[in-house]
Amino acid sequence: MLLCVWFVIFASKIMTAVFYRAPAHRYPMAASAAGMTIKDRSGKAYLDMSGGAAVSCLGHSHPDVVAAIREQVGTLAFAHTAFFSNQPQEDLAARIAARFTEPSARVYFLSGGSEANETALKVAWQYWVARGKPAKKIIIGRDHSYHGNTFGVLSASGNDSRRRASAAPLVDWPRIPPCYEYRERQANESVEEYSARSAGYLDDAIRKAGAENVAAFICEPVVGSSLGVVAATPGYLAQVREICDRHNVLLIADEIMCGSGRSGSYFAHQHDAVVPDMVTLAKGIGGGYQPLAAVVIRQNIAGELHRAGFAHGHTYVGHATACAAGVAVQQVLDRDKLLVRTREMGGIFLSMLRDAFGHHAHVGDIRGRGLFFGIELVRDRETRRGFDNGRQLPDQLRLSAMDEGLICYPGSIEVEGRTVPHIMMAPPMIVEERHFSECIGKLKSVFDRILPRN
Ligand SMILES: Cc1ncc(COP(=O)(O)O)c(C=O)c1O
Repeated sequence: MLLCVWFVIFASKIMTAVFYRAPAHRYPMAASAAGMTIKDRSGKAYLDMSGGAAVSCLGHSHPDVVAAIREQVGTLAFAHTAFFSNQPQEDLAARIAARFTEPSARVYFLSGGSEANETALKVAWQYWVARGKPAKKIIIGRDHSYHGNTFGVLSASGNDSRRRASAAPLVDWPRIPPCYEYRERQANESVEEYSARSAGYLDDAIRKAGAENVAAFICEPVVGSSLGVVAATPGYLAQVREICDRHNVLLIADEIMCGSGRSGSYFAHQHDAVVPDMVTLAKGIGGGYQPLAAVVIRQNIAGELHRAGFAHGHTYVGHATACAAGVAVQQVLDRDKLLVRTREMGGIFLSMLRDAFGHHAHVGDIRGRGLFFGIELVRDRETRRGFDNGRQLPDQLRLSAMDEGLICYPGSIEVEGRTVPHIMMAPPMIVEERHFSECIGKLKSVFDRILPRN
């Protein structure tokens, strides 16, 4: 009997019933976290410079958020929103709508980014049906984009490796090139000319598909993990807005990563002074304390569906405890003036990164907005050529950083058959300068270990 108990305990230490994200990989066990640091079960500390995937905007174990969740769970953890509304959902919607650029927006709460983008597509389709234009079904996206892993939004995504790997029978909607100055702007082209050319691809794509068939265009105002933090060039989004208006196509801003204050304004599109028809938020809206996401819907669209109805819903829509966490995150953001801090600290880290790596033989570009940064790696700085046989580089960079006790978020794209890796960083807004120095020291060791010597 004793032997049996011993065996079960022993086996549970070395075996697992979990089907992991990467099924064959063995992960260290996260045991505790506070502020900028996550500790694993062996006591090893990791400096969290990406907030996971741009999630932990307030760092870990923030006492105000923890207290708000405890309070909510003790009062009303959950009441199905088919039967009831709840106060945290009402409060959070009012706060998010008040931050939006136009008055009277409505907010729909979900549990994750993919769900939020799926919901935005449903809103778009049902809006056009309500307007008597049921043929408007096509969603135009951009190359290299990622809007989530469920059927609809993966169909709207241009991340070829994720599309291929999913093996799902996706819809092949049209895609246009991203606004990606470092790789796409020609030497003889001004930034304004480039913005106009880049936005013009949307005009072409809508004309080709027939405006009467196009429901919406979806893009990230600042592309996060799929390109390594690439902000649109000045004027691009304004021209995209104008093209959408001209063709009666809705504009969906996917701000799952770049929104919620991450890039220095609460909504990333506010930097470009445009008003999208819908904005999706996740990650930073709940700071990782609860699974939480939102779709912000412009007043005229919400009004149309108010009249016509909206056929959609998930069990955890408007979850009381998740929304309570979201309210607490908003309160801390305002009380501690974290948007101002995001802009200030962002500027400091960007110049530190450029000082440290601006001349590195394999660093092609260092860019950022707010506390959102990308380092694009190349085999050759002159030609901006990627790495031959470099598919493993993002994994190697991530694992080597973890060895050093650093959490950052590498990814890659394929350009002309070669791998172009990048590293995304999105540190919690409580980050201090000493964390920047520590991060740079660790990144130097990672580059020394992983990148070629010449
Ligand atoms: C821009 C963007 N949209 C959508 C998603 C999907 O969000 P989730 O993983 O919460 O479903 C992500 C996830 O990283 C994202 O970065």
